Amino acid sequence: MQKLVIVLGLLAVLCAAHSFKEGGAVKQLTVDNFTAVTGIGSGKLTKNTFGMFYAPWCGHCKKLIPTYDEFAEKTADVNVVAVDCTTNRAICDQLDVKGYPTLLYFTSDNKQIKYNKPRTLEALQSFVSTDYKQETGADITFKPVSGGSNAPSDGISAQVHKLIESVGGPTVFGVGILAAFIVFAVVLSFLCGGSDEKKEKPRQTDEDNAKKSSNKKRE
Ligand SMILES: *[C@@H]1O[C@H](CO)[C@@H](O)[C@H](O)[C@H]1NC(C)=O
Repeated sequence: MQKLVIVLGLLAVLCAAHSFKEGGAVKQLTVDNFTAVTGIGSGKLTKNTFGMFYAPWCGHCKKLIPTYDEFAEKTADVNVVAVDCTTNRAICDQLDVKGYPTLLYFTSDNKQIKYNKPRTLEALQSFVSTDYKQETGADITFKPVSGGSNAPSDGISAQVHKLIESVGGPTVFGVGILAAFIVFAVVLSFLCGGSDEKKEKPRQTDEDNAKKSSNKKRE
């Protein structure tokens, strides 16, 4: 019963997934157009660019999405972009994205600054207009990524990582493994229970054979 509640709860969380507004102001970028749209990696930014690097299953990311949509709408002089790290690892790996969401501000003097302030509309707006000037950024070292391949495709760990993310992140993956294990255990106990019956029969056959062969010997 408790497990059922957990599973239903997880489904509800997954179904409630927010996504960016269709035709909204957030530019959703991939390995194919990240550098082309922002200029990051080309040495010359098109505009100051605020980037959200996220995973679709991450709760804090989903929570930020409506605010981020509004931020993009109201911040015309800044490129407001989002990159799904689960399908664009080549971008997020280079930017050293370790947690979701990672928020970075790239400025036209070729610096990048990590945003660690509150995830509110006001704080975001105030940061991109003035507050960022008080922070020391790091030089942008991003190199343009070639399109097509989404991940460092070779390497088992990369594949496992991809698999885990494709099923909805580590938590869902863990629950999936647990569920699979329970099913496996049930099937196994059923099979083992069944094979006890089978063991009886060969024994009878062996006895029969023994009788037959002893009969033969007697003949
Ligand atoms: C970037 O490319 C993706 C995938 O082709 C596309 O969905 C998205 O709209 C593009 N974004 C921009 C701003 O061109």
